[in-house]
Amino acid sequence: MRRKLVIANWKMNGHRSMVDQLLAGLQTRLSELSVQVVICPPAVYLDQAQALLKGSPISLGAQNASEHVTGAYTGEISAQMLREFGCDYVLLGHSERRSLYGESDAVVAQKTLAALKERLTPVLCVGESDAERASGKTEQVVSRQLSAAIEAVGVEAFSDIVVAYEPVWAIGTGNTATPEQAQAVHYHIRQQIASLSEKIAADLTLLYGGSVNADNAAELFAMPDIDGGLIGGASLDEQAFTAICNAAG
Ligand code: PGA
Repeated sequence: MRRKLVIANWKMNGHRSMVDQLLAGLQTRLSELSVQVVICPPAVYLDQAQALLKGSPISLGAQNASEHVTGAYTGEISAQMLREFGCDYVLLGHSERRSLYGESDAVVAQKTLAALKERLTPVLCVGESDAERASGKTEQVVSRQLSAAIEAVGVEAFSDIVVAYEPVWAIGTGNTATPEQAQAVHYHIRQQIASLSEKIAADLTLLYGGSVNADNAAELFAMPDIDGGLIGGASLDEQAFTAICNAAG
């Protein structure tokens, strides 16, 4: 279902007392929001976060999941394990996973399938690099990343998937895409899905990510095909993240 959604990606940041403090603060500040909020802490803090968020409208997500169900995969965490620890969402194919840990389109597609089997909502991240944008390949790259997932899970499954457009050049750099640049790619993504199913495209929740902050969130979220945001750095700041959530609500 298409909805207003803001997701915090804490990446590899935080410690026990920070998790306590930030989640307590956010629960107080976000108690009356109309927007769906999801927090993705590092995996070792999921248990702590789950306990703190009990009874709260804030949902829990993970930053990654294995494409495998169980077995000899040292260091990996399965979708089933994430489910057991209270996750409803999982980020998949984040550009840091793709570029630093070599996750291919095919692997990300298999992870999407594995997450869906456990009834987790995959947040499928797509986006072009600086060089790809400069050479006019933005739409081609995003389409290729999306197609790999569509081939693996089928377009109908996109009724249970969130897509996040995150231009690599905008992540953690302070170089936010302009609302027009982001909207153009979001429109392209929705059209690609619409070419297979108008209904699924109309219901698809599409997030923008990449240097979203308290000052630029409102104008990004005002664009017709942007349904919310995937927030990195600013999600570690209680005040900034609350302002971003308010901008979406
Ligand atoms: P950023 O990160 O908001 O720090 O740019 C976004 C993301 O990587 O999800």
